[in-house]
Formats: sequence, C-alpha cells, structure tokens
Amino acid sequence: MADFEVWQKARFRFAVGVVLLNCLAAVFAAAQGKSGNSRYVGPGSCSASACHGGVQPMLNTRVLQNEYSTWVVKDSHFRAFRSLQSPISQRMGKLLGIGNPANSPKCLACHALAVSPERKGRDFDISEGVSCESCHGPASAWLGPHTLRGWTTQQSVALGMYDIMDVAHRSEKCLTCHLGTAEKEVDHKMIAAGHPDLVFELDSYSAIEPPHWKPSGDPNYGVRLWAVGQAIQLREALKRLARRTQSGSWPEFSEYDCFSCHHSLTKPESSWRQERGYENRGVGSPAWNSAHYTILRILAKDIDASASQQLETELQNVYQVTSNMSSSPKDIGESAQRASELAASLVTKINETKFDKERAGRLLQEISAQGDSISNQDTRSAEQAAMALDSLFICYEKQGSTHPTVRAAIDGLFQELDNPSAYNAPRFSAQMHKVNAALHESGIGQ
Ligand code: HEC
Ligand code: HEC
Ligand code: HEC
Ligand code: HEC
Repeated sequence: MADFEVWQKARFRFAVGVVLLNCLAAVFAAAQGKSGNSRYVGPGSCSASACHGGVQPMLNTRVLQNEYSTWVVKDSHFRAFRSLQSPISQRMGKLLGIGNPANSPKCLACHALAVSPERKGRDFDISEGVSCESCHGPASAWLGPHTLRGWTTQQSVALGMYDIMDVAHRSEKCLTCHLGTAEKEVDHKMIAAGHPDLVFELDSYSAIEPPHWKPSGDPNYGVRLWAVGQAIQLREALKRLARRTQSGSWPEFSEYDCFSCHHSLTKPESSWRQERGYENRGVGSPAWNSAHYTILRILAKDIDASASQQLETELQNVYQVTSNMSSSPKDIGESAQRASELAASLVTKINETKFDKERAGRLLQEISAQGDSISNQDTRSAEQAAMALDSLFICYEKQGSTHPTVRAAIDGLFQELDNPSAYNAPRFSAQMHKVNAALHESGIGQ
C-alpha cells in the first residue's frame, strides 16, 4: 500500500474513535493521576485531522498539527518496520540465524513500537515502525487532557510524556536506538551481516528527520543541539564500551575505528597511514574509535580548560588501553567508566553554557585550524568535523551572513567522505585548510 493510502486509511479509521478515546482517556488520567500507569496507545490515536493529522501545517496554532502526515510521508522512522522485510534484512536474518527479522525481538526493539502486552493501553499494529510514542512516551494518561485549553506540556510530562523538548533528554532518547543500550544493540556481527553502522549527530539528524515541529526562534539553537548532543554521545559511547568489555564477546570490533581495518591498501610509498605513524598504539593494531571526542575536545577546552584537561588525560588512557590488543577487558572497562563520569560532568557544564554567534565563530576557526590532527584520526573523526563545521556555519547563515566561499569549502569536506574506504587524510586536511582560509577571508571568528 502506498504511504499516502496508509495514512488516509488510518486517518478515517481513527478520526471518530480518537474523540471518544480522548474523552475516556481524560477520565482515566484524572483517576490515575500519575505517570507510572501510562500505557502505549499506538500512532493511530494521534492521526485525526483536527489533532496531528492535518495536511497543511497550521501556522497560527502552537503546534503544526500535521505531524502525523509529515511522519508518514517523509520520516524514515515510519518505514523502520518495513525495512525489516527488505531482502537485505532477510539475508541478515539468515546470516545471524535469527529467522525472519520482522518477528525477531532483536530487530523490533529499535524498528517498531514493540512493547510488552501489559504496557499496551489497547491493541495496535506495530507495522507503523518507530512511531509517536517511541519518542514522546506512552500516551494513555495524557492523550485526553493534552487537548484541553490551557493544558501545558509540563502537565503532560507529569503524566508520563517524555520531555523531548529538553535537549539533553532528547539526545538520550535518540541514542537509545542510534547508539544502543544494554537491551538493544547493533554490534559488528550485525554490521558484517548488512546492518548500517550507527553514526549519529543530534543537530544534523534532527534536520534530516525531517522536523515536524516549529523551528526554534533562537538562531543558535542548532549549536546547542550539536554541543549537548556531542557530550551525551561521548558519555553514552563510553558506557557502552565499559558494558561490552564485560560481555564475554570482547573484543567488539564496532568499538574500533572501522577504517583501521576496512581501508583500501596502497603501495608503501603512497600510504598516508604509514607516513602518519601509529601514535599511542602498536604498529598495525586497530584504533579505538575516538570520533566521539575528536571535535568535542575543542568545545570542552573552550568552555572549561581545566576540567577538559582531566577528561583529556583519561581519554588518552582509554585510547591506549583499548587500542592495545593484550589489555585486559577489566582495565578497559574501568578506564571507560571513569571517563564516562568525567563526560557526565561536561554534559552539565555544556548545558549551562550560552551559545552565541561569537562562540560559534570561534569554534569554526578552532576546529578548521586543527585540520591536520583531526584528519589523521581517520574517517569517522573527519565525518564528525564535517558535520560540526556544517552545523556551526548554518547558525551563521541563519543570522543573515552569506559567505559562499566558506559554504563551498565545507561542502567540499563532504565530497572527501563519499567513499569512506578510500578516505585520504592529506586530502581531507587540505580541504580543512581551505575552510580555515575562507573563514579568515570572511572575518569569521577573529
Ligand atoms: C525507537 C528507536 C529510535 C529512536 C528513539 C530514534 N530513532 Fe531515528 N531511526 C531509528 C531506525 C530504526 C531508523 C532506520 C529507519 C529505516 O528503516 O529506514 C532511524 C532512522 C533515522 C534517521 C534517518 C537516517 C538516514 O540515514 O536517513 C534520522 C535522521 C533519525 N533516525 C533521527 C532520529 C532523531 C533525531 C531521534 C531523536 C529525536 C531518533 N532518530 C530517535 C530508530 C530510532
Ligand atoms: C540499537 C537499535 C537497532 C537494532 C537492535 C537494530 N537496528 Fe536496524 N537500524 C537502526 C538505526 C538507528 C538505523 C538507521 C541508521 C542510520 O541510517 O543512521 C537502522 C537501519 C537499518 C536498516 C537500513 C534501513 C534503510 O532504509 O537503509 C536495515 C535494513 C536494518 N536497520 C535492519 C535491522 C535488522 C534486520 C535488525 C535485527 C537483526 C536491526 N536492524 C536491529 C537501529 C537498530
Ligand atoms: C524520532 C522521534 C520522534 C517521533 C517518532 C515523533 N516525534 Fe514529535 N517530536 C520529536 C522531537 C525531537 C520534537 C521537538 C523538537 C523541537 O521542538 O525542537 C517533537 C515535537 C513534536 C511536537 C511539538 C511539540 C511542542 O510542544 O512544540 C508535536 C505536536 C509532535 N512532536 C507530535 C508528534 C506526533 C503526532 C508523532 C507521530 C505521528 C511524532 N511527534 C513522532 C521527536 C519525535
Ligand atoms: C579489528 C578489525 C575490524 C574492525 C575494527 C571492523 N571490522 Fe568489519 N570486518 C572485519 C573482518 C575480519 C570482517 C570479515 C571480512 C570477510 O569475511 O571478508 C569484517 C566484515 C565486515 C563487513 C562485511 C564484509 C563486506 O565486505 O561487506 C562489513 C560491512 C564491516 N565489517 C563493517 C565494519 C564497520 C562499519 C566497522 C566499524 C563500526 C567495522 N567493520 C570494524 C574486521 C573489522
């Protein structure tokens, strides 16, 4: 069935039901009065045209009211369940010995609103993939009252709505699927069977979701999303590393830089990796994936130089023990745990920081000035640099400054990443120099 038809059908099916359901839910919610009892009701409950299923965005209401339509037509989360039926997924199921992925809890955990029967407020179809309540939390307790005049988001949050408007909470929610938790995981086995690698950056991923919400009035909001998102991602990545060293299947290859194993080989005379050397690890041993930190460290230093030094030292240790194949999993786990605690305090500091055009300009300068060392950290770090420069520069562009040479230079970074296995650090670095020069010429960050 075409996406549009699914959406039409769902709208008609629920347009009437939702009104009754809302009234009932309001009564139940008042009786329950607390969030612990909130259950999942499925996306159909949100799809009525007077609720979130409008076709055109409403510009004079607090929310757009066409969120359901945006999600069905444009958001890949709606297709998440159907992806499990694709030939690639079916082959993945065979390679992993788990049968049909569309029935496997291992896959449904992230590709659908798969909740236990006790947590369901009513029966609903999980084939609509990652739906409203996957991000906004179980709705039974607030579904009815949240349509009342004068009702606030805080009141819904008290009844079990997830506080997705809070940037730190939002980042944590996205990462439950885009990085994984103890219960739901994408590991190298799954990747080798065909799963895409999990790469995430809150600001870029929010922009391409695409948004079904009104844009923030603050032009620097994207920088905040990027900064807080980076710090939380580092904390969560270190927790995952610590967890995996205890899992019995260590070494887990997806904790390493993919391209320290998966790059195309060249003659020694043209190998940039041999030319670069293997700092802080044995020659030829795979490197810990430091991409979660390569760019964040520049921000951390800008915000709190002394606290960032402590984190820097601990992360150096994580890098060394993880990149040494004979380290004990216990040593790696303990170091990762210590570093994740330091990263947690960085989250708090970044969350309290004011982001403005000046800071964004300074960061653009500082990141691009470190082109050589970032490029040498390999492909995943180079990707983070490109996404960070892009987010920071968009904040500039939004404030009325157009600088076509800077834009062209940043776009050039993405072109260098088109074929990751053929990534070439000296070329990426040369492009970073171009970005830096274009920023200077435009007087940004001085
Ligand atoms: C319940 C799990 C889950 C949560 C929570 C989640 N995602 Fe996703 N996300 C997925 C899955 C699964 C896919 C792949 C969908 C498919 O099959 O194409 C995906 C895909 C995406 C894509 C498309 C990526 C691409 O390569 O085109 C973006 C963008 C995205 N998510 C952003 C976000 C953001 C931002 C958040 C938090 C606000 C978030 N996601 C929360 C599971 C989740
Ligand atoms: C930890 C959460 C998680 C688990 C578990 C998981 N996935 Fe995914 N999957 C994702 C996310 C997130 C994406 C989107 C990645 C991106 O594009 O950045 C994705 C993307 C995919 C895609 C690519 C979709 C597209 O449109 O290109 C396929 C296929 C897929 N997953 C199949 C599976 C299968 C099969 C399983 C079970 C063996 C599984 N996934 C388990 C989170 C998960
Ligand atoms: C992948 C996660 C995700 C899914 C799935 C999702 N949302 Fe959202 N939604 C968000 C995020 C993140 C925001 C807040 C963004 C912001 O304001 O910066 C948001 C904002 C909203 C808002 C505006 C809230 C406000 O107070 O301004 C509404 C309304 C909304 N979503 C409804 C829906 C509906 C209805 C669905 C299902 C059809 C849905 N969402 C599915 C992540 C999600
Ligand atoms: C320590 C080395 C190492 C690291 C690090 C590593 N892999 Fe692998 N990977 C392997 C080996 C060995 C195979 C099996 C290759 C074969 O059978 O030809 C493999 C297989 C694969 C395959 C399937 C083979 C193919 O050609 O399609 C994919 C995809 C893959 N890895 C992706 C990744 C990604 C993405 C990462 C990072 C998240 C990663 N690998 C990290 C060693 C590694």
